[in-house]
Amino acid sequence: MTTVVKASAPAKVNLVFEVGAIQADGYHPVNSLYLALNLREELTLVSGEVGSGISIYVHGDTLPERHIEAVPTDESNLVFKVVAALASHHGLATPDLQIDIHKRIPVAGGMAGGSSDAAAMLVALNEFFYQELGITKLTLAELAQLGAGLGSDIPFCLYGGLALGTNRGEQIQELPSLEFESNWLLCISNQGLSTPLVYQKFDELDLLHDFSDLAAMKITSAQELAGLMANDLEPATLALMPALSDLKAKLEELGALKAMVSGSGPTVAALFESSERCVEVAKLLNSHGIFALTSTGDSAGARLEG
Ligand code: C5P
Repeated sequence: MTTVVKASAPAKVNLVFEVGAIQADGYHPVNSLYLALNLREELTLVSGEVGSGISIYVHGDTLPERHIEAVPTDESNLVFKVVAALASHHGLATPDLQIDIHKRIPVAGGMAGGSSDAAAMLVALNEFFYQELGITKLTLAELAQLGAGLGSDIPFCLYGGLALGTNRGEQIQELPSLEFESNWLLCISNQGLSTPLVYQKFDELDLLHDFSDLAAMKITSAQELAGLMANDLEPATLALMPALSDLKAKLEELGALKAMVSGSGPTVAALFESSERCVEVAKLLNSHGIFALTSTGDSAGARLEG
């Protein structure tokens, strides 16, 4: 009998992204307020024929083709690593699987697209092993621990909602959801930006400050949220890609309450009070050849789909 399991997982934006001093391991500790967006990857797992190995098929109809083409379908894809890690956790050989990924999150856009696929895969494979082999399912916390070893944003994609992320962002403290729906425009750059280079620039700019108590922040409206959005990496990203300053200014001129580089960039996330205006501005940008998406927050973490 063929087993089919479907799961989905959200994209993220960093509402606040604070960065500390570089550590001996070459990484910077972060203090991040994460929000999950209703821009969800959908993953379908189908049991493959014995000996067929793992095959991945990626498709999507809302992203430029280059985003679909950029997703690796070999062992370098994070979902392969998830299969290997969860199988090995249970002392199993790697199973034969066909994996279908419906991509909606831009690739290399700082919105956790790859981590979202990995989170959906953890949830789907957990269910798959239960259905096929009767193996007791891991809890969400156990899946998050396994995921943290593969990528810093994977635990957040498992939990979703609003959360505090510390250490490299993989230590998650869930927070109560915002009481309002937030409207987001995500402006995706054609040009990539190297994450290590952004962190190096951040070190050069010497912008260190104490971390805030993000869990204690009370956010009751979009205006309040706009007032506290902050990203320590933004000056570094803007120094490396000055055109993003104009884009930020343009978005605020067009009605965004706040436009900010997301994580290390180059995606710019803009918060709007009105969903209609948010969609209008995205259409306007798209008509000028600038790729922009809209979404809303928050969204659930990785979950099984019927
Ligand atoms: O997390 P990822 O492997 O994509 O990070 C790439 C590089 O970015 C790291 O090797 C490091 O130089 C830098 N980085 C950092 N601190 C972080 C995340 C990334 O210095 N918290």
